Amino acid sequence: MASIELEKLIKNYGAFRAIKGIDLSIEDGSFVTFVGPSGCGKSTLLRMVAGLEEISGGKLKIDGRVVNDLEPRERDIAMVFQDYALYPHMSIAENIGFGLKMRGVAKAEISRQVQEAADILQITPLLERKPGQLSGGQRQRVAMGRAIVRRPQVYLFDEPLSNLDAKLRVDMRTQIKRLHTLLKTTTIYVTHDQVEAMTLADHIVILKDGVIMQQGKPVSVYERPISRFVGEFIGSPKMNIIESHLVTDAGRPELRFGEFILPVTGATALNGAKIDIGIRPEHLIPCTQEDALFSARTDVLEPLGSDTHAICLLGDTEITARLAPDPSYQPGQILHFTADADKIHFFDTKSGDRLDISAMPLVAAV
Ligand SMILES: Nc1ncnc2c1ncn2[C@@H]1O[C@H](COP(=O)(O)OP(=O)(O)O)[C@@H](O)[C@H]1O
Ligand SMILES: [Mg+2]
Repeated sequence: MASIELEKLIKNYGAFRAIKGIDLSIEDGSFVTFVGPSGCGKSTLLRMVAGLEEISGGKLKIDGRVVNDLEPRERDIAMVFQDYALYPHMSIAENIGFGLKMRGVAKAEISRQVQEAADILQITPLLERKPGQLSGGQRQRVAMGRAIVRRPQVYLFDEPLSNLDAKLRVDMRTQIKRLHTLLKTTTIYVTHDQVEAMTLADHIVILKDGVIMQQGKPVSVYERPISRFVGEFIGSPKMNIIESHLVTDAGRPELRFGEFILPVTGATALNGAKIDIGIRPEHLIPCTQEDALFSARTDVLEPLGSDTHAICLLGDTEITARLAPDPSYQPGQILHFTADADKIHFFDTKSGDRLDISAMPLVAAV
């Protein structure tokens, strides 16, 4: 097992800088996810850790030792990709044990380790089959089995579940988490899927354009996104953003949007400043008209059984509310909403940065 340190890591592809000076500390035994939109540099950064991509600047340390110039095989790392290549003519057991065989491990020991990995991954009945006789999910588990038997210091995953269907993805996600609980091997896991990133991680790193936007415990990032980008990226359905402007005329600052008003404190911005109000769908609370922060017309209802997503229109702005299932909701109906003041986020419209403003307590949500 090992800790990993990234110090001012840079990657240039010719004149293009894909990774722009990344500092990151990964604790021994932790599970870190890299998440961000396509092209933000997740794979590049992971491949730099693996030694598959040359480092243009900065330092990479594994267990305190600078490994910038070490070959991949000298780094004691196992990587699992989205496209896993299994040897088609070998049995599953041979595929899993192949790396051990190449290292000259004794036959009985290989067999023992293959059996152990197969137990963990629940693929024991498949060991005598050939890869061609397996489903995509089973093949992906075999690829993980190969990584497990190596017992490396670090596991690296690059979108390993992207080719699987939705249900299998969720099953495999659980399995990967269970595996980490069991082995406690330091893991970096790359995904563009924020749900995967949130559910798997001890520590989540959100990247954009080769820069870390925010990092921390998944729940902390969720509760306190430092920008509109992070707020909208993490969470599903995504955070509602309502454009407003600040009015300080009466001495008491308030945000106005359409005919609605939200009194705030801590606002030091200028009169007229444009501010985005962010409220997550699960934080909108249905209420009476008198208590409402705002009212919106229901456009589409999506009943999920466990809850219902109501997509409403507030002027031109689409607002999604996550509501308890109630068959009486109808499209076209006006719904009134309030929210807990401390569940409302504020961002500078122009920069997208989080603002240190608080909403005054709202009547029905107190
Ligand atoms: N071999 C390469 N040569 C030039 N540019 C590359 C190369 N690999 C990746 N890039 C660029 O670097 C950026 C980051 O890519 P990548 O790490 O693959 O993103 P992600 O995995 O987050 O989708 C992208 O703009 C991509 O086009
Ligand atoms: Mg990638």
